[in-house]
Amino acid sequence: MEPVNPLDPLAPLRRFVVFMTELVGRTNDEATLMAECHGALSALLADDRWLPDDCAAPHPDHYQQYLLHCDPLERFSVTSFVWGPGQLTPIHDHTVWGLVGVLRGAESSERYSRAADGRVISQGVGRLEVGGIESVSPRIGDMHKVANALQDRASISIHVYGANIGAVRRHVFDPVSGAEKDFVSGYSGTHTPNLWDRSALVRAESAR
Ligand code: FE2
Repeated sequence: MEPVNPLDPLAPLRRFVVFMTELVGRTNDEATLMAECHGALSALLADDRWLPDDCAAPHPDHYQQYLLHCDPLERFSVTSFVWGPGQLTPIHDHTVWGLVGVLRGAESSERYSRAADGRVISQGVGRLEVGGIESVSPRIGDMHKVANALQDRASISIHVYGANIGAVRRHVFDPVSGAEKDFVSGYSGTHTPNLWDRSALVRAESAR
């Protein structure tokens, strides 16, 4: 991966968004989308300096989910999740495909499945370090609980989903009874990074 250029720090994210836009235009096969997205997300995680500070800010009480980009046709979205020390999600699903890649720190993810009696059963806990990617979808297993694996600092992951994830109706699950409740996550904050102001680089190039 090219190093981050201070005149165009968002270039890695813009390249990722362009790649994903082309990808969703040429296929809607979930396995292909996930496989190709995996490679592009790996490259995006290789250098963390592109993430704007306001999309990397933790909240003292709960994790943050900042929207970095949503495809205009809502075929995919990209978010940064920021986990303060000890913060975690409830057990939840996504209802669409998703990839979760660690940019800073480390995360733990406990996957679940449904038993015949309706309870949710742990399938074990995995730990993701920087560069590690977890996949979810109704096809391959869609229920998990995610936590910051670090107790002394924030962790950040970049998530890609096959929909405008903040507006998707999905579910949280009671860990004892398995009872499910609808939720729509929304997003933290009201702004997305401006991917399209390439003026500093253009000016520097024309000044040469
Ligand atoms: Fe999740």
